[in-house]
Amino acid sequence: MKNNHSCQAGSTADQHAVAQEGGASSFNRMRSKLSFERMVEMASHMGMENPLFVSHERAAKATTLINGKEYINFSTYDYLDINAHPEITAAVTETAALFGTSAGASRLVGGERPPHRELERALAELYEVEDCIIYVSGHAANVSTLGFMFGQRDAIFHDGLAHNSLVQGARLSGATRYSYAHNDCDALEEMLKAHRSNHKYAVIATEGLFSMDGNIPDLPRLIELKKQYDCMLLVDEAHSLGVLGRTGRGAREYYGIDPTDVDMWMSTLSKAMCGCGGFIAGRHDVVKFLKYGSPGFVFSVGMPPVIATACRKALEIMLREPERVHKLQNI
Ligand SMILES: Cc1ncc(COP(=O)(O)O)c(C=O)c1O
Repeated sequence: MKNNHSCQAGSTADQHAVAQEGGASSFNRMRSKLSFERMVEMASHMGMENPLFVSHERAAKATTLINGKEYINFSTYDYLDINAHPEITAAVTETAALFGTSAGASRLVGGERPPHRELERALAELYEVEDCIIYVSGHAANVSTLGFMFGQRDAIFHDGLAHNSLVQGARLSGATRYSYAHNDCDALEEMLKAHRSNHKYAVIATEGLFSMDGNIPDLPRLIELKKQYDCMLLVDEAHSLGVLGRTGRGAREYYGIDPTDVDMWMSTLSKAMCGCGGFIAGRHDVVKFLKYGSPGFVFSVGMPPVIATACRKALEIMLREPERVHKLQNI
C-alpha cells in the first residue's frame, strides 16, 4: 500500500516535471515574440538603464523626480495639470472615509455608491446625451463594448491607427473587421460601399484625436457616412476630452456637431480626468444594454468610489477653469 502510494506520488511528480519542462519550452518559444527585451538591449547600447518601469518619486505631472533628480516628464497624460490637485485629494479623502476604497463587487449585484451615478450623470451632461456607463478600465470599456455589442454577422470598420483596445474589442466580437487607411474617409466609403450590405449591424470606430500623430478625424464626414450606410459611430475621446474644443468638451465641441449624431462617446478617465477607467456616453437604451450585459461591466467589480470622485472633481475643475484648456492649446 505504502509502496503503491509512493510509486504513484513519484509518477505524479515525474509527470509534473515533464509538464513543467514542456510548459517552459513552449513559453520560451512564445516569449521570443515579445520585443521589449530588444528595446531594453538597445537602450543599454545607448548607455541608458532600462527605460521601462522606472520608479517615480512623485505624482505624474509635467516634471518628475527619479532617484532624487528632477526631469521633464514626457510620459504623462495629465493634459490639464490637474493630477494631485488639493481639491481632488480632499474629495477622495472624504469619499474614502464614507465608502472605503473598494466598490466591493460588480455594481449589478453588489449595488452602487453615490459617486458612481454622480460621475455618470456628469459625463452624460458633458456630452449632452441621455446616459453614461463607467467601466473600471478604459481598455476594458472598448473591448467589452465592441466585443459584446457586435457578432459574427456584423461589421466593424475602424481607423487603421485605432487604439489596441478598439482592435481587441473588434476581434473579440467575431464581427468582420475592416481597417481603413488612417483618417481616409474616401477609403472608408469604398469599404462601406463594397461590404456594408453583407452585414447585419455595423459600427465605425475612430478616435477624436490620435495621440501618436496628433491629428483629428473628419467627424462631420464620418457622421454623414454612418447615416448613409446605416452604421453606428463610436468616437474614442481618450486624447480629445480636455484637449479639443474651447472648453475641453472634445471633438464635438471642436466641430460644433450635434452630440447625438455619435452613438457612443467613449473615453478613458485616466488622462485629462486624472483617474482610471473608461466610459460610454450615449442613448439611454445603449447604456442600459451595456449595463445589463457587457462582461467587462457585469463580471467586473465596480469602479472604486474614490476614483469616481477623483474623476468628477477633475471634470469640475476643467469646466470651471477653461484657461487650463487654452494654455494646453497654445503650447
Ligand atoms: C485611444 C485610447 N483608447 C483607450 C485607451 C485605454 O485607456 P486606459 O489606459 O485608461 O485603459 C487608451 C490608452 O492609452 C487610448 O489611448
